[in-house]
Amino acid sequence: MNRKELIKKYIDFFKSKRHEEIPNSSLVPENDPTVLFTTAGMHPLVPYLLGQKHPLGKRLCNVQRCIRTQDIDEVGDSYHHTFFEMLGNWSLGDYWKEDAIKMSFEFLTKILKIPKEKITVTCFKGDKDASKDTESEKIWKSLGIEKIKFLGKEDNWWGPVGNSGPCGPDTEMYVKGIEIWNDVFMQYNKNEKFLPAKQKNVDTGMGVERTLAIINKLDDNYLTEVWQPIIKGIEKLSNRPYDDHQESMRIIADHIKAAVFIISDGITPSNNDQGYILRRLIRRSIRHGMRLSLKDFTYKVAEPIFEIYSDYTDLKQNKEKILRVLKEEEEKFNKTIQNGLRIFDKKVMEWVDNNKKSVKTLSGKDAFLLYQSYGFPIEMIEEEIKSFRKGLPLKIDKKGFEQELKKHQELSRTAAAGRFKSGLADNSEATTKLHTAAHLLLASLRQVLKDKNINQKGSNITPDRLRLDFSFPRKLTDEEIKKIENLVNEKIKQSIPVVKEEMSLDKARKSGATGVFESKYGNKVSVYTVDNFSKEICAGPHVKNLKELGHFKIQKEESSSSGVRRIKAVLE
Ligand code: ALA
Repeated sequence: MNRKELIKKYIDFFKSKRHEEIPNSSLVPENDPTVLFTTAGMHPLVPYLLGQKHPLGKRLCNVQRCIRTQDIDEVGDSYHHTFFEMLGNWSLGDYWKEDAIKMSFEFLTKILKIPKEKITVTCFKGDKDASKDTESEKIWKSLGIEKIKFLGKEDNWWGPVGNSGPCGPDTEMYVKGIEIWNDVFMQYNKNEKFLPAKQKNVDTGMGVERTLAIINKLDDNYLTEVWQPIIKGIEKLSNRPYDDHQESMRIIADHIKAAVFIISDGITPSNNDQGYILRRLIRRSIRHGMRLSLKDFTYKVAEPIFEIYSDYTDLKQNKEKILRVLKEEEEKFNKTIQNGLRIFDKKVMEWVDNNKKSVKTLSGKDAFLLYQSYGFPIEMIEEEIKSFRKGLPLKIDKKGFEQELKKHQELSRTAAAGRFKSGLADNSEATTKLHTAAHLLLASLRQVLKDKNINQKGSNITPDRLRLDFSFPRKLTDEEIKKIENLVNEKIKQSIPVVKEEMSLDKARKSGATGVFESKYGNKVSVYTVDNFSKEICAGPHVKNLKELGHFKIQKEESSSSGVRRIKAVLE
């Protein structure tokens, strides 16, 4: 069975169980400043897991592209990947453990025809927050599964992704010792403590790559058809066999595949946030390419990816750009890397000569120099030290490096780390208000600047402020900014209710709503209307009445990129 057949079988199966298919969302979560990438199918569903009504109902399924950056260092073995696809089915306050487990079992044994003797499962063993999951155990036993292990939170608990949000015990399905599917029972909501959730949800995730390997009886994911054309390409380019260079070839294939998808979703290499991860992936694959004497190769390695994933139409559309970005980043890195490696070697030799025994530390300043001037991601410096200089008594002063980074106003990486800490999909009162304020701002921009074609190009909302990027060719005058601000405040003073309606995408379009018209939220969408002032397609959340907002203030208007302006604003 190949990838496309597996995905089709999964979706068809859950459709036959009255699930609706939802779209495969962008890798870059919109309106969610708390995570850099979509790491599981549940991400775009967080508002609905927290109780908002989903336009397509209570039973959903899809295949979702995902990026997991915490696994980057594990890539190189036979089954960890940075980019992977996750099949998922969800119950939003609908079915619970029995139906979820029975459907998983039926799919595995009847559709994938995996003999039940080959399936082992794990369940949550219980702790101070939640009791032992004997309910799942009973259900598995009733299905004839005997090999059941009980494990703690480290293994059999999923979420929250940040510090707060939906989470709960899970039961995991293993075939040949590899976990291929996870049914999470989201019955808790974590804030400071684990509190019983208002709505009990099921969130499941099955790894496409692992499952493909299992059903095709392969013990290395990279031997499946979603990797082989890429690996074969690397073998040909380097004129070396995969069997002798598995680790580097896997890393190159994995990182370039992830980079292709990340670039396709609108990211370019930079020193910030998603752009930094992308840079790190491309540069790490170049370092491994050097071990195979590969040069000018990243865009060539990318070539087969467009065929393997021919069902991703945007990948094809963006192909030219993707290949160009890879080529340019490789050229950029090549220019500096030789100098960087020379400096690196010189420093290392200095320490070794001066003192052969005591552990020396690469100072934060030197590490920063390698980072800033020679483009070595800090993780790569660490890796260089580990893998190329084995046995040398050398450490990196990472704290000093972070301080240097801060000093140079390169806060974003630390900020990025902080974003993971702050919890997933913040639906707090403060962000909810700012979401509504963003709609008013967009409508005011159109009215004051007398340009109906002004479109939202991006938005980022934290509890403290909103940031809206919009298409407009020039700087706004102070007078215009004042007028926009006044118009928003005037609407707020009128205490206008915010009306939410659900309708088909087509109807929304015809009604004059603005927003993203791709079927991102499925064929049914929510439309939020404020009088005849603003009408936007949006996943929410929003306040019920504008009077809740308080006073609106624009803090900054600046350029974002060519033809795009950026406004930061607050509610006081
Ligand atoms: N969200 C769960 C996971 O990623 C299903 O394993």
